[in-house]
Amino acid sequence: MRHFLKETDFKYSELEGLFALAREFKTGRGRHATPLAGQTWAMIFSKSSTRTRVSFEVGIHELGGNPLFLNRNDIQLGRGETIADTARVLSRYVHGLVVRTFDHAEVEQLAAQGTIPVINALTDLLHPCQIFADAFTLAERWGRDGNLVGSLRGRKIAFVGDRGCNVANSWIMGANLFGMKISLAGPPGFDAAPEFDQLLAREGFAGGYEFTTDPYEAVRDADVVYTDVWVSMGKEEETAERIRVMSPFTVTPELLAAAKPDAFFMHCLPAHAGQEVTQTVLDSPRSIIFDEAENRLHIQKAIMATLARR
Ligand code: CP
Repeated sequence: MRHFLKETDFKYSELEGLFALAREFKTGRGRHATPLAGQTWAMIFSKSSTRTRVSFEVGIHELGGNPLFLNRNDIQLGRGETIADTARVLSRYVHGLVVRTFDHAEVEQLAAQGTIPVINALTDLLHPCQIFADAFTLAERWGRDGNLVGSLRGRKIAFVGDRGCNVANSWIMGANLFGMKISLAGPPGFDAAPEFDQLLAREGFAGGYEFTTDPYEAVRDADVVYTDVWVSMGKEEETAERIRVMSPFTVTPELLAAAKPDAFFMHCLPAHAGQEVTQTVLDSPRSIIFDEAENRLHIQKAIMATLARR
């Protein structure tokens, strides 16, 4: 059984085909493909979502399947039914699971205990669907058909702000997988969870990133400047302290100008203008944030089409 819980669940050699399939879905060439025909895919969400929920629901529908949205608190999982029993029961009804939750171990257990594909739609540790959509967005700009993924190799991404968040972790994994360089800038004391460093080492990527407390150092020679919210879901009680210590890391027009002249600005959204990024940068011609959002749909369709059992 094949799952997508982390970036490295796809081999590098598979990525060109995956991105080409996403291109087919995006351009309409794959319009009539229905690899999920007759299937129902359940979506268990324990956190809020706009992009992920809507892009998966629309994507499952467009692939011929039936999306079944399950708020965690509306099912017995929210009242203490075990992950193992939930996985075994849902495997009798549906053909795939899309899961957004807090603890990354939950998606691993659902995958291990069930008999259907599981897709990580964000955990506290990783957000691989986002990073594949981001990478596809960049490959569309830099590459050409037949060499989408190869166009990422050697490029540099600078991640500025909360360097311990799931999107930062996933970009570290993704950059190493795609052959990119990654430099992160943020305040000290917001390191990634130890389990992330262990995972990075297991994947053969130990030490595969640079960290600095100077955002201008991080963005030097960068092809992409990336940020995410300073207060991730589940960290709300730390809001005041996070805003205080991260305020030197706002992506301003001056900081973006310190990257390469043709550097792109990216943000997974939702954005908090005036905190991690200024409205001017969000609205600038270098900002490709809505292409990223759109591409969630196309790359996730390609991922589901690859994982689906017939
Ligand atoms: N980027 C992202 O995952 O957005 P949502 O939280 O709205 O799904």
